[in-house]
Amino acid sequence: MNAALTQEQIDFFEENGYLRIERITTDEDIAEIKESYDRIFAERAGREDGNQFDLAGVDEDNEEASLPQILEPARYAPELNDSLLLQNADRICKQLIGEEPNCVVAHAILKPARHGSETPWHQDAAYWDPNIIARSISIWVPLQAATEENGCMLFVPGSHLLDVLPHRSIGDDPRIHGLELDPSAMEHVRGAVACPLPPGGCTLHGGYTLHYAGPNRTDEPRRALILAAFVDGPRRAKPISFPWQEEKRTKSAEKRRAAQSQRA
Ligand code: NI
Repeated sequence: MNAALTQEQIDFFEENGYLRIERITTDEDIAEIKESYDRIFAERAGREDGNQFDLAGVDEDNEEASLPQILEPARYAPELNDSLLLQNADRICKQLIGEEPNCVVAHAILKPARHGSETPWHQDAAYWDPNIIARSISIWVPLQAATEENGCMLFVPGSHLLDVLPHRSIGDDPRIHGLELDPSAMEHVRGAVACPLPPGGCTLHGGYTLHYAGPNRTDEPRRALILAAFVDGPRRAKPISFPWQEEKRTKSAEKRRAAQSQRA
C-alpha cells in the first residue's frame, strides 16, 4: 500500500497547518509496530541514557510515569525502520517539504489507561533551537483508534502562521520536561479542531502549529508513535533565547549529561 497526498490535501495542509489522513499504513504493519512498541516500553528501553522519561511528571525512577516517552525508539527496536509506515510517511513529507530531509521515527508517547495526563497546548518549535526557523512535519500515528476519550490530537487551524508564542514548563515546574503554552498566550487557542482517527490513520502538523491531546479516560493504553522530517530553515537576523529552555532542571537532562561525561 503506497500512501500519497492529493493536491487537495496538500492545499489543506498549507492553509491550516495540519492534516488528518484516514490511512497511512496497513493494519498488519500497525500490529507489528505495536509489538515492538509494547516491548520497548516493557523493557524501559532508553531509561539509562535519558531517552525514556516522563514528559509530564518529575520523573522519579520509582514512580509510574504519567506520560512516558521514548526518544528515537528505533535505536531500541530497529525493525521500526523497515516499517511500511516509515516508507509512506517519508513519501508524504517529501511531497510537503521537499526531497532533502528524511523522515525518521522520532518518538513514542504512551498514555496509560485511566492515568495518562493531558499533553497541554504547545508548538513543537518551542522545544527547538530558538534561532533557526525550522521547516518540519510531524506525523502522529495512534496504534489503535484515537478518540476524544483516549486523547486524540486537536489543532488550531491557521496557527502555523504564528511565530513561537511564550511557553513555560508544564505547571510552571522546571523539573518537568514538557512545555505548555503560557497562560498569557492562551487567547491564541480558539476554533480548535479534534481529529479522531481509525487505526492506520494519522495526523500531520508543522512545528509552529498549536496542538493538544487530552488525557486518556479509557481502560486501554493510548499508544502513539511520532515520525518527523526536519530541515533547518533560515537563522533569525537577531538572536533570541527561549527562557523556558534555559530554566530546565529535568532528571533526564541530568542523565544525558552524566552519560556524555562518561563517554568523554
Ligand atoms: Ni507536540
